[in-house]
Amino acid sequence: MNLKTYAATSVGSSLEFKSIDAEPNGTTDIVIKVTHCGICHSDVHMIDNDWGMSQYPLVPGHEVVGEVVEVGGAISHLKAGDRVGVGWQRSACLECDECVSGNENMCDQTKSVIGDGFGGFADHLIVDGRFAFPLPDGVESRFAGPLMCGGITVYSALRHAGMIGGQRVGVVGIGGLGHMAVKFASALGNEVVAFTTSPDKAEEAASYGASSAVNVREEGALENYQGKPLDLIVSTVPKALQVELYLNLLKSDGTMSFVGVPDEPLSVPLFPMLVKRRRIMSSPIGGRAEIRDMLRVSDQCGVAPVIEEFAMADVNTAMQKVRDNSVRYRAVLVN
Ligand SMILES: NC(=O)c1ccc[n+]([C@@H]2O[C@H](COP(=O)([O-])OP(=O)(O)OC[C@H]3O[C@@H](n4cnc5c(N)ncnc54)[C@H](OP(=O)(O)O)[C@@H]3O)[C@@H](O)[C@H]2O)c1
Ligand SMILES: [Zn+2]
Ligand SMILES: [Zn+2]
Repeated sequence: MNLKTYAATSVGSSLEFKSIDAEPNGTTDIVIKVTHCGICHSDVHMIDNDWGMSQYPLVPGHEVVGEVVEVGGAISHLKAGDRVGVGWQRSACLECDECVSGNENMCDQTKSVIGDGFGGFADHLIVDGRFAFPLPDGVESRFAGPLMCGGITVYSALRHAGMIGGQRVGVVGIGGLGHMAVKFASALGNEVVAFTTSPDKAEEAASYGASSAVNVREEGALENYQGKPLDLIVSTVPKALQVELYLNLLKSDGTMSFVGVPDEPLSVPLFPMLVKRRRIMSSPIGGRAEIRDMLRVSDQCGVAPVIEEFAMADVNTAMQKVRDNSVRYRAVLVN
């Protein structure tokens, strides 16, 4: 079949319309007619080859929502007409210990939607049907895309960092992932502190569930922080940050988890961890069971991203806004 895509043709390039021939494998693949696709900062990292694994032409887009139009013979849980979402992962072996434990996201044979095939900035997506998730009726298509990568990543990171409810949670970087982290943590009964470099986001933090917000650009904002110690902190910032200043905000046995991917190694003095037995961890997307769990929570607790919609053909305008950190809070392309 012929995919009508928007593709980067070289490192860091803008996206151009490109027709690409590709075929589903007929057994486990499905074809989705794309209606919406969110823009995640990982699309930016991949266009720029920040992780050294990009292949061009690269079709970004891994927060994909659409209608199933073709189903491989081995797929029985989906049929033409179903409304589904797809995130970062396009397939896994489904047989290894990680896969059978529900950690498909950590399978050694994992394949990504945009690194091992063509992504959702297109009219159609071909993907393994076992990584396409039926959407609950209560989750609108325009909001579902950002949940499929950004949403599951922060939901999983919060859970694995120990979030159960009734805790104090810090979120650093209030972009696509960060604002959804605030929403999930507050919807699940936590007091949430937003740490942001953007004054307007600090001002409206309460509107998406934060109890308080800190403008970290203000002199001494973290050193002089007067709030109660936090149980856990999730950082979504794609750049290096002063980790020790955040570690000092955690109570004993508190955990700081990184989902944002800075372009340089973290530099962390040990003492802020040692004195209160604090931990640092990092977390990749989520497994299939957790994605279903996240979608159910989104539906039942009304967790939806705040989005700006763009026509698919305006992808370069949207992408520039993501690079400029001026999207409030997630860009979604609409076909
Ligand atoms: N671990 C995973 O599995 C996983 C999954 C998806 C994405 N990611 C990664 O998570 C990170 C965030 O993704 P996203 O889509 O949420 O990005 P985003 O929408 O661009 O948000 C990133 C936020 O970080 C803050 N920030 C602070 N300093 C910044 C700087 N120098 N440049 C850019 N942003 C800065 C900004 O928040 P304020 O304005 O509030 O300061 C910005 O809104 C990316 O590195 C992405 O690759 C990881
Ligand atoms: Zn992503
Ligand atoms: Zn596996």
